[in-house]
Amino acid sequence: MDVLDAIQKRRSVTEFQEKKVEMEKVGVLLEAIRWAPSAGNRQPWEVVVIDDRKTIEDLADIAHNQHWLKKAPLVMVVCINHKLAEGTFGVRGKNLYAIQATATAAENAMLTATELGLGTCWIDVYDEEKASRLLACPKHTVPVIALAVGYPLAVPKPPPRYEIASFSYYNGHGKLLEFEWKGIAEHLKEFKERLLKSLEKY
Ligand SMILES: Cc1cc2nc3c(=O)[nH]c(=O)nc-3n(C[C@H](O)[C@H](O)[C@H](O)COP(=O)(O)O)c2cc1C
Repeated sequence: MDVLDAIQKRRSVTEFQEKKVEMEKVGVLLEAIRWAPSAGNRQPWEVVVIDDRKTIEDLADIAHNQHWLKKAPLVMVVCINHKLAEGTFGVRGKNLYAIQATATAAENAMLTATELGLGTCWIDVYDEEKASRLLACPKHTVPVIALAVGYPLAVPKPPPRYEIASFSYYNGHGKLLEFEWKGIAEHLKEFKERLLKSLEKY
């Protein structure tokens, strides 16, 4: 599966088979997180892997009573380590870069999970203080994202997305990017033709 394939195939999955997620696969997801980009390479994330049923149930209650989460075989809670986040960048590191880095780390894990045949759903923990107490996090470690992980029972249909033309601009906001999206297959075909043409001279 290539990256764009995984990006398009990833869906927020909320129904899972009872099958356990193998720890080897959890290891691969952690490796994907490990290689996420972060400002100044501060790597301000920590991950709490949970397969204890009671803890998952309590987390579901904290996360706005999302009952479906109680049946997720595994949850990976991505936390911000504020000591690492603030290091070089102070408040900006804490309030912006750390959030961006943990989001990127979570997306890395979700795309890798898709490739491994796993379904995921990103959930806001909603109450960081309660989640922190539940997981016995130290003061400087704040849980921000809960990733439900498991083998999908049902994969939802892709929800609609805005067209590229509605959110992209050229050389400044407001100037339309003149680009007609013809679908991946067509663009790759054109790219291949251009590449072959450029190689003709050799
Ligand atoms: C910051 C963030 C918070 C989210 N919180 C929840 C949540 O609490 N519960 C839930 O079921 N899905 C949650 N989602 C998943 C979105 O609902 C989902 O990504 C969106 O509907 C698009 O569907 P897709 O992921 O299948 O493309 C969240 C996603 C993000 C990025």
